Amino acid sequence: MSEEELRQKKVGILGLQFPPAWREREQLATAMKDRTPGTLNETIKGSPAVLVVVYDTKKRAPASEGDVLGMLSLGCVMENMWLMAQELEIGFQIMSAFSGPVQKEVRKILKIPEPMAVSFAVRLGYPAVQPGYVRVRRDIESFTYRNAFGKKW
Ligand SMILES: Cc1cc2nc3c(=O)[nH]c(=O)nc-3n(C[C@H](O)[C@H](O)[C@H](O)COP(=O)(O)O)c2cc1C
Repeated sequence: MSEEELRQKKVGILGLQFPPAWREREQLATAMKDRTPGTLNETIKGSPAVLVVVYDTKKRAPASEGDVLGMLSLGCVMENMWLMAQELEIGFQIMSAFSGPVQKEVRKILKIPEPMAVSFAVRLGYPAVQPGYVRVRRDIESFTYRNAFGKKW
């Protein structure tokens, strides 16, 4: 999306955040195939602290299909830490990749025992520069209602 489109739509990512070859629809498939993904090592090497959040897979929220409530609770943990970090002006970048296939290696390095599993990880640090990209937020009235779904404030 262009900056103008993004400001109007209020959701999504600015096209300029991607490498130039990725911005042309026709070239995208080839460009993505040619580009090898960066390693997690590259992502975290400048970070003074990486926090890895683990949870006990044996402990489940009762009466919750697929432990949705348990996952929701981990999201609350993430959000609380995020708000505090923001208050302290500490940069907080969640890295979902830690809970994916690299988890096996992460477990080995950090000696994480069974039945614990990685939920997510966070890169923490005082930002050296402020992000210069366009950040969008939807207007609250565009997705909240009063007394009944769809009823405007
Ligand atoms: C559940 C979740 C997973 C995320 N995973 C990643 C990730 O793997 N890598 C990353 O760079 N950012 C990740 N983010 C962070 C978002 O990219 C970013 O912080 C968020 O969209 C807010 O961006 P903004 O404040 O600049 O608009 C994740 C955020 C959430 C809520």
